[in-house]
Amino acid sequence: MTVPLIDPFARTISYLRVSVTDRCDFRCVYCMSENMTFLPKKELLTLEELDRMCSAFVRMGVKKLRITGGEPLVRRDIMKFFQAMSRHLETGALSELTLTTNGSQLEKYAADLAACGVKRINISLDTLDEEKFARVTRWGRLPQVLRGIDAAQAAGMRVKINTVALKGFNEAELFTLTDWCAARDVDITFIEVMPMGDLGNEDRIGQYWSLKDLRATLAERGKLTDLPERTGGPARYVRVDETGQKIGFITPLSHNFCESCNRVRITCTGEIYTCLGQEGHSDLRAPLRASENDATLEDAIRAAIGLKPKGHDFDYSRQEVDGQVSRHMSHTGG
Ligand code: GTP
Ligand code: 5AD
Ligand code: SF4
Repeated sequence: MTVPLIDPFARTISYLRVSVTDRCDFRCVYCMSENMTFLPKKELLTLEELDRMCSAFVRMGVKKLRITGGEPLVRRDIMKFFQAMSRHLETGALSELTLTTNGSQLEKYAADLAACGVKRINISLDTLDEEKFARVTRWGRLPQVLRGIDAAQAAGMRVKINTVALKGFNEAELFTLTDWCAARDVDITFIEVMPMGDLGNEDRIGQYWSLKDLRATLAERGKLTDLPERTGGPARYVRVDETGQKIGFITPLSHNFCESCNRVRITCTGEIYTCLGQEGHSDLRAPLRASENDATLEDAIRAAIGLKPKGHDFDYSRQEVDGQVSRHMSHTGG
């Protein structure tokens, strides 16, 4: 048994998020600009290299592996990678293999994902209005995503909807969204919008809808009880007493959760970001390629985790954006 991964603030790293591509078939307004320049394909780690990288983390104590993007399901041959990672579920080394997706490719892949041992899947959906969906995703089409959600449920996966809370955009849809999820027996988690990437004319402060306020609105219709339940990510959950519905909140702005951070991120070129909200990162591609023996890679992973910062500096409280990070959310997949 190798020594667990522990950062300078005594947090054990047990959750790895791997972005397998920076590309996406959508252009969500809070995530990407309309004209993105993507990495040349030759910069990417191969699927075999991603396997070596993830397997090293699993050996070092990672229990939860989440595949992200961009949109992970647009990476060529991605199912081969899921199949390869499923062996770590079979040995019990991993307790969860999962992904965060925009849902556009799920009609095609849901059954294969379930066959690889994916039991839970997080799907982004900010609105149930077709016209608004097209506006917020720029290139997305709602019916395709709804068919993807159907396919995920039909394949037996537990679906969690991720909704970015956006003032003046989906505020009026709060109960429409929660009721729709309850009726379909899918979970829902709201996320506060974070200042990632230079998106030109996006008005972050104007868009920001604090989940404290969102929660207060929910509580007008039914009593909410805090749940101790955790899914290994930053969400905190409540139960609506009358209906039993579970609702999650991810509150980087209104309630910082960095002290319990258990995760690091790898990009598709093999950079490691030890904090979503900071610029600092280290290269793992060179150590990975330096030798076929993983000792160099493992040393580089430990060194990077030794630099993990305490937390993000996102802050809108002075009515201006503080702590902004220059890269887009799609670079590390959220
Ligand atoms: P569960 O396994 O269901 O708990 O998922 P998760 O919340 O870990 O993963 P998901 O990809 O659904 O994350 C939802 C969003 O939460 C991400 O896209 C980010 O926007 C945000 N988020 C996740 N981890 C962090 C974090 O460490 N810091 C901050 N600030 N935001 C995070
Ligand atoms: N702030 C908060 N969440 C974001 N996401 C993308 N960009 C942002 C942002 N700026 C979310 C997406 C998706 C996940 C990958 O990250 O909605 O659920
Ligand atoms: Fe694509 Fe997800 Fe970013 Fe939207 S939020 S552009 S679906 S990576």
